[in-house]
Amino acid sequence: MEEELKNVKEKALQDHIPIIMDDTLAYIYKFFEKQKVHSILEIGTAVGYSAICFTKILNEDGFIDTIERDTQRIEEAKLNFEKTNVVKKIKIYEGDAVEILPTIHKQYDMIFIDAAKGKYPFFLNEALRLIKENGVIFADNILYKGYVLSDYNKHKQRTAVRNLREYIKLVSENPKLETKILEIGDGLAVSKIRH
Ligand SMILES: C[S@@+](CC[C@H](N)C(=O)[O-])C[C@H]1O[C@@H](n2cnc3c(N)ncnc32)[C@H](O)[C@@H]1O
Repeated sequence: MEEELKNVKEKALQDHIPIIMDDTLAYIYKFFEKQKVHSILEIGTAVGYSAICFTKILNEDGFIDTIERDTQRIEEAKLNFEKTNVVKKIKIYEGDAVEILPTIHKQYDMIFIDAAKGKYPFFLNEALRLIKENGVIFADNILYKGYVLSDYNKHKQRTAVRNLREYIKLVSENPKLETKILEIGDGLAVSKIRH
């Protein structure tokens, strides 16, 4: 698995597919070091790199549901799941997460948001419906190359930046959440559900 996983990562980087950064992954591994999880929902599979990595934090009968809309990436993710022998643990939902999420009626221990930045507030709303009482919601790329905390207000990334700022505001103000915004990778929001 390790050798194959390394190949998946190297190919993704060569093909300029944005994948989870090493320090973000290390943080998530550490977060679940003592207690593994049963169920993970990922929004944004790409070629499956992070999903394959997350199988390491699953308990024995744990599973991952992951959503992707790009058909070429879906095919590559399926091949990567076969190569790394994790097919039985991961299910891909094929299509736009905006349409798929409202059709899901399960509860997850961990939700990893890593798709269209302009949709983060929508994804958060769905994540709050789907997260278990002691669960945790991660949102990757939350600081988006530093634009989110600067006075950046220009051209085509403007909508993304506005929505990422909105996400931070929503998680920070929600009394049900205990949130940290970490400057690791491209920024990671960690929101634990208070109980
Ligand atoms: C940053 S990549 C995911 C990387 C992956 N989680 C990893 O670390 O290996 C984001 C992916 O989300 C997909 N995506 C973006 N918006 C989406 C949406 N609304 N529904 C489904 N997939 C989406 C993109 O096609 C892209 O492959």
